[in-house]
Amino acid sequence: MKSLIENSKVLVCVGSGGVGKTTVASSLALLGAQLGKRVLVLTVDPAQRLKTTMGIEEGQEAVEIKGHQITGQLFASVIDPKKTFDEFVMRASSQPERVKKILNNKLYVQLSTTLSGSQEFTALEKLYSSFESGKYDLIVLDTPPTKHAIDFLKAPQKLAALFTEGVAKWFRDPKATQQNFFLGLLQSGTKQVLKTLEALTGSDFMKELADFFQNIEQWQGQLEKRAGDVHSLLVSPTTSFVLITSFDEAKLKEAEYFSKEIKQGGYRLSALIINRAFPFWIQSGEQLQSKSPKVMNLYMQMKDYYQKREESFSRFSIRMNQQAKILRLPEMREDVSDISGVELLAKYIQEAK
Ligand SMILES: Nc1ncnc2c1ncn2[C@@H]1O[C@H](COP(=O)(O)OP(=O)(O)OP(=O)(O)O)[C@@H](O)[C@H]1O
Ligand SMILES: [Mg+2]
Repeated sequence: MKSLIENSKVLVCVGSGGVGKTTVASSLALLGAQLGKRVLVLTVDPAQRLKTTMGIEEGQEAVEIKGHQITGQLFASVIDPKKTFDEFVMRASSQPERVKKILNNKLYVQLSTTLSGSQEFTALEKLYSSFESGKYDLIVLDTPPTKHAIDFLKAPQKLAALFTEGVAKWFRDPKATQQNFFLGLLQSGTKQVLKTLEALTGSDFMKELADFFQNIEQWQGQLEKRAGDVHSLLVSPTTSFVLITSFDEAKLKEAEYFSKEIKQGGYRLSALIINRAFPFWIQSGEQLQSKSPKVMNLYMQMKDYYQKREESFSRFSIRMNQQAKILRLPEMREDVSDISGVELLAKYIQEAK
């Protein structure tokens, strides 16, 4: 892991819900800063767990973390999707009065915050602009849970497509639809449709909608370009994916599937972390000495259980066929809820083989 951290500029932590992405991302970032790098850890986590693990206070968006044997620098940032989207629009547009109009457009406000994919878009947008700023040696991106590992990565393209295809055209340039009989029919009915919709949604809404599509035209091209840039960054040799999973059979199967998706998408999967693979005391080699036969019996049973898990781990390693380095991390004594827990886990990551 040390060499992965040393040789990477971007690490993307992916995995299914609740497996420890935020915890591992925080630990990787701390480790990087302990190794002397200027590191940023970024999250869009709606649960905002990064705030607790990194000790960010309510309302703060980005913060520098000090101490904890950091010889470089460590910054943690919780992405504000709306703000990131606004910043993108401002950068993409050359006419200030249009920017104001679009930022105040109700539909834009809705789309930029609730549209499926907009959260992912803003995360990748923030990743890219942070990378471009040149302020950091390493950026660790903590991602929200997804069903498919790379759905997240497709968001910018999807969003760009949404603005270029069908509906947008229909509103912006009704003439373009005339060759198409079906769309032509739709168009002749447009006024009626709009009227009905207005009745349903309030007259302002439809006006805002048409206004919106007229205004976005100018930054559509920028959105597409940005999607391309983000993709180039994600497939670049200094970007690596870290897939996090827990140790039950179902999650391991899911991880296998995820790793295939990542590879097929053309991304580099460098490490697979099996989190909470065993209790922390097993690795320490401590032997429990108890006079109580019941306690000893339970202890031996647990040892036996984890011994069996070794076999299932070997099978999994074979199935993975050296597609990525596999690391196992222990289940800590208690939940990792603050920076001291993160620090402990970072140590385990450094030592893990
Ligand atoms: N190795 C560990 N030992 C003990 N507790 C852990 C460990 N890893 C994670 N946890 C705990 O498990 C819970 C879930 O972890 P985390 O929030 O990092 O998962 P996540 O994958 O980011 O979840 P989500 O998909 O909801 O974003 C947290 O309470 C965290 O403290
Ligand atoms: Mg999380």
